[in-house]
Amino acid sequence: MSSKPQAPRGTRDVLPEEGRLRLRIVDVARQAFEAHGYGPIVTPTFEDTEVFARGVGEATDIVRKEMYTFDDASGRSLTLRPEGTAPVARAFVSNGMHKRSLPAKLWYVAPMFRYEAPQSGRYREHHQVGAEALGSDDPLLDVEAIALLDSIYAGLGVPGVRLRLGDMGDAESRGPYREELLAYLSRNEGDLPPDARERMALNPLRLFDAKDEATAEVMRGAPALLDHLSDAASSHRAQVLAGLEALGIDYEVDPTLVRGLDYYTNTVFEFTCDRLGAQSGIGGGGRYDGLVESLGGPPTPGVGFGSGIERITLALEGADAPGPDLDCYVAVLDRDRRPGVMARVAELRGRGLRCEMGWGDRSLKSMMRQASALGARTAVIIGPREAEDGTATVRDMDTGDQRVVPLDDLTKELT
Ligand code: HAM
Repeated sequence: MSSKPQAPRGTRDVLPEEGRLRLRIVDVARQAFEAHGYGPIVTPTFEDTEVFARGVGEATDIVRKEMYTFDDASGRSLTLRPEGTAPVARAFVSNGMHKRSLPAKLWYVAPMFRYEAPQSGRYREHHQVGAEALGSDDPLLDVEAIALLDSIYAGLGVPGVRLRLGDMGDAESRGPYREELLAYLSRNEGDLPPDARERMALNPLRLFDAKDEATAEVMRGAPALLDHLSDAASSHRAQVLAGLEALGIDYEVDPTLVRGLDYYTNTVFEFTCDRLGAQSGIGGGGRYDGLVESLGGPPTPGVGFGSGIERITLALEGADAPGPDLDCYVAVLDRDRRPGVMARVAELRGRGLRCEMGWGDRSLKSMMRQASALGARTAVIIGPREAEDGTATVRDMDTGDQRVVPLDDLTKELT
């Protein structure tokens, strides 16, 4: 490799400053998940391709164009996870989780892979925190999921977040509606590009999600699913709206919100953030009452969401990033003395103090510069005089105040 090696197109390296922010995001999310009774689940990074083809839907962009699919050495078709819901539903089926207490409430943080055109906020590998509740059709569980994601954004201080709410109806609503939509699309077929016509045959609802202007123009005049909800779907929706109102969560109704995955039924939602530009979706989800069954499990309703960690990070840009928060920087000038001091540092770390030492041959000045750069609150200096006396100089990095303490008392002094 002659030129400087780069991360593959559409992927990125995360360096420690951003890494700390991401850990904080995961930590805030984890606390919210645990507070709502969700337990962690880990599924493999790749699945049998079938899981996504059947789960996410053959008509979606994800399955049609964006999957990283490969054959393994035995010729089995595998796919790197493009999203987290189908794998969790597959794990629910594989592990017979319907026999457990329901709903099974599961959360995850995991990398997702989609071959998309890269741009700011859109990557070929991204990471999501997500949650899935399987085994209850209670509309208030939809409300709880939305409120949970809302509380994560609030806990992180994400500015400018808005909630859009759509509805995909149930099977009873969708059958007759599909016919009406297809009839409308057939009347306007001449204005649709070939790709849209192909998708129309697979799932006409997908055209609401089209990015090209010609299709978007046709869809502006299309009948809306919201006007065709069955009694059961209308009642579900009314309970979701009432629940959101009771919790004081603002939302905008978006009758054309279909989202990029085919498994949704009833409630669908998307949080947008006005700091994100073109890729404004910061998180989204909805109900998917047929997914588990389509993967070979017993009929099991479900609801959940996923939120992109990179997008949350972008939305928080300029906000106070968590500092390295070093409690103590230990500068030992004489290298031969370092092994002995390392035992003391280990003791401090054992007491929960975040400690770093000065490494290599560097002057006291350079070590103090590094201590400041790392944000250390205290520096412990062991120069020739201290080494001779068995002491250490403890410096308050904010005030510059110094005191000399016996090395044996260091842990006591600093904890
Ligand atoms: P999704 O809307 O495809 O839904 O993705 C969820 C979130 O992941 C998006 O709102 C966005 O923040 C982030 N995201 C998606 N694609 C990219 C990308 N290429 N680069 C950066 N961030 C991205 C799902 O994946 C569903 N599994 C969510 C769900 C869970 N529905 C029910 N349960």
